Order: sequence, then C-alpha cells, then structure tokens
Amino acid sequence: MAAAGATATEGWSSRWGFILAATGSAVGLGNLWRFPSQAGENGGGAFVIFYIICVVLIGLPVLLSETLIGRHGKGDAIESTKVVARDSGASTAWSALAGIGMLGAFLILTFYSVIAGWVLYYIGLFAGDVVSSVQNGAVLGGAFQGQSLEQIQDHLPALFANNPLMLGMHALFMAITVYVVARGVHGGIEKIAVYLMPTFFLLLIGITIYSLATGAAGEALGFLFAFDPARLLKPDVMLAALGQAFFSLSLGSAMMITYGAYADRKTNLASTSTIIAAADTSVAIIAGLAIFPIVFAAGLAVDSGPTLMFQTLPASFQTMPAGSFIGFLFFLMVFFAALTSSVALLEAPTAWVMKRFNLARGVATVLLGGIAFAIGILSALSFNLLADWHPLNFSIFEGQNFFDITDTLTGKILLPLSALLVAVFVGWIADKRLTDHENGISGGLHQTWRFLVAWLCPLAVGAILVYGLLG
Ligand code: PHE
Repeated sequence: MAAAGATATEGWSSRWGFILAATGSAVGLGNLWRFPSQAGENGGGAFVIFYIICVVLIGLPVLLSETLIGRHGKGDAIESTKVVARDSGASTAWSALAGIGMLGAFLILTFYSVIAGWVLYYIGLFAGDVVSSVQNGAVLGGAFQGQSLEQIQDHLPALFANNPLMLGMHALFMAITVYVVARGVHGGIEKIAVYLMPTFFLLLIGITIYSLATGAAGEALGFLFAFDPARLLKPDVMLAALGQAFFSLSLGSAMMITYGAYADRKTNLASTSTIIAAADTSVAIIAGLAIFPIVFAAGLAVDSGPTLMFQTLPASFQTMPAGSFIGFLFFLMVFFAALTSSVALLEAPTAWVMKRFNLARGVATVLLGGIAFAIGILSALSFNLLADWHPLNFSIFEGQNFFDITDTLTGKILLPLSALLVAVFVGWIADKRLTDHENGISGGLHQTWRFLVAWLCPLAVGAILVYGLLG
C-alpha cells in the first residue's frame, strides 16, 4: 500500500493503462442505465444526434482541458489546479474548480452505489433464474418462466420494500469499491480496468448481436437514428443531451484532473482524450442498440425512464431465447462498468484527503467510503421510508426527496459549475504557452480547440447552469 501523501509518485504503467482506466470511469451506469432512459424519454433520434454534437464540440475540449490541468500539476485535483494557476501567475483560488468537482464526485458516489447495489441484486436474481431454468431443462427458454409480467416488474418494488437487502447490496458495492481503491492506482484501479474493460466490451458486443438478431432491430434503429428536426430545436432536449454528455464523460467532477495527473509527460493528451470520448459515446449508442430491440420486441414502453433497465428490460427477457442467461450476463456487464466508474468517483477525493490530512491510502478510502455509504443510506431510503421527505423544499429542489436532490445538485449545479470554471480557466486564465505546449495538437485543430474552450464551452455550459437553476 502506498505511503501517505504519495499520490504524485503513483501512476499508470502505460498509456493503455490510462486509456482503459479513464474509459472505465467514463463508461458506467451513465451509458447503460441513464443514456437509454434519457433517449427513450426525449424522443430518440433528435436527442442522440444532439448528444453526439455535444460530446464533440463541448465534452471533448473540456475533457482535454481537465487532463491537461492534472498532467501539468501532477498532484491531487486541487493541488494540480493550484500548480497551473501559480505557473500562470493567477490566483490559486481557481483550485475551487477542483474542490467543487470533488464534492460532486463524492456526492455522486453516495447514490451511484445504491443503484449499483440494485444491479448486484439483479445479478443474483438472474443467477437464480439460470439455476432454475437448468433444473427445469429450459435453458434456452425465456427468463422467469411461469411469472406474469407484473410479477417480473415487481422484483424492483420488492427490493425497495426490503431495506436490509437494499442497504446490504449498497454496502457490498461500496466495500468492493473501497477495496479496489485502497490497493492503489496501479495495483487496484488500473488492474481492474485492464481485466474488466475488455471483458465488458466482449459482453456488450455479444449481447448487442444477440439483441439485434433476435429482437426488433428495425424499430430500434429507427427510434435511435430517425432525424426529426422539429424535436432537435427543443431546448429541454438539447439541455438534457448536454447534461448527459457531461455525466457520461465524467466531466466537472475533478476525476479527469485526478486521472490526468497519473499520466506520463510523454502521453499525447489530445489523442488519448479523443479515444476516451469516442469509446464512451460508442458504448452509449451500442447500449441503446442492445436494449431497445429487446424492449420493442416485447412491445413494452421505451419511455419508462429510470426503471427501463430494472423493470422493462427484465420483463423483455422473458420472450427472448436463453433469456435468463443473457439477463445474467447483461447485469454482470453493468456491474463491471459501474465498478470502474465508482472507483474513479472515490479516487478523486481520496487523492486529496491523503495529501491534505497526511493519511495512508487504506485509511483514507475506508473513511471516505464509510461516509459515502452513510450518506447513501438516505438515498436508498428515498425509495421507501423517506420517499416523501423533502429536506430542501424550495426552487429546483421543490418536491424532491434526498436521492433526487443529490442527483439534481450534482448534475445540474456542481458538475456544470466546475466544468464552466475549467473552460474559463484554461480558455482565458492559464498561461497559453503552458496549456498549448502540453496538449499534443497544433495548427488548425489547435485553433479550433482554443476557440471551443474559450467561447463555446463557457456559453453552452453557462446555459445549462442557468436553465438548470431556473427550473
Ligand atoms: N461517467 C460515469 C458514468 O457514465 C459516472 C461518473 C461521473 C464517473 C463523474 C466519474 C465521475 O456512469
């Protein structure tokens, strides 16, 4: 285990280690659970097109800016930002951008682990179903034979009604996250990414082929890619797409600054960031191609939102060949993706706490994981006992329970605010010689990046913030 405050000396073993870990952090519940539900609720095609535009024009420039700050500063996110500010003759108060992001990452972790706990439960549910289908000699049949659609969908409310089980799953997922992060950047975070990410990609491709071959592929493709200009210009669809791009690329959460600091000085950050963004976006779209054909084939609603993955999809597996086995693999894949993201969410604050309070990595992770678990209990209980508890019943938080508040506070306020500050800082404040010589691009591409970071990103992100706050 690393000594206290040794973050700067830790690092990825290679450029691919960095790419896999950062892609692992980006690819998560955001791609598999949030993207399909957002696309479903926002009308499909128009949302998808705008999402891709947002990733390219806004997400990618900010992603490059964040990794750049980290790699220049080589410390935890706050320290790295201070170093860049100091080297640019600017106020170190700019490190607030990392502080806000880190708080956002920590708060996301509190509820991310709750949802990932549901995923663990569904792995168990499908594993049990695989066993019973083998016993009944019906392995090739659909999932949950003999259960009605309502009974299948009731597995989620049944979980919500069982607090020890729900909190137990939340605790289990958090414990696994803490264990990985405690083992260090190279020995824990990079190691699981190197094993889990390739496995994840194989599973995703396999399940997608299965889904396109056996499900309603035509309907799903039409839904995801149909171009409807009338919907494209709707501000709420545009803003939903921009918010989703941010969450999915892990931007504004101090996380890419933290991971950037572990990158070698020779790594080309522009091409690396492009690979990460391209992989993340492809996974979101492929996840749509895996999920929607199955849901359409079963004739269920595509706009069921957050419960799409936990209620609609399992019900859909009933009509699919080898449904229990595929369902089991599907949730296993979601778990892998969620774990490589949750370790990133924990690593950002851990790196800072180790340095700031001079704590050993193991102590810092157990402490932060424990606090995140405790706060997360309030999010878990938001699905039953505390469903009607509205602790901040004003403005955008009106009518929201604890889970909703944490989601809104991070997604609509903290992440966009941190990303806005990153864009202004890199676009206007940081020394250009410093940012420009370390990013690995030149010529027209470089000019374009500068323009996007200085102008388009602050304006667009400022717009999500204002719109998000107004309502
Ligand atoms: N990008 C992750 C996902 O898509 C979530 C995340 C956000 C992870 C911010 C780290 C930091 O699930």
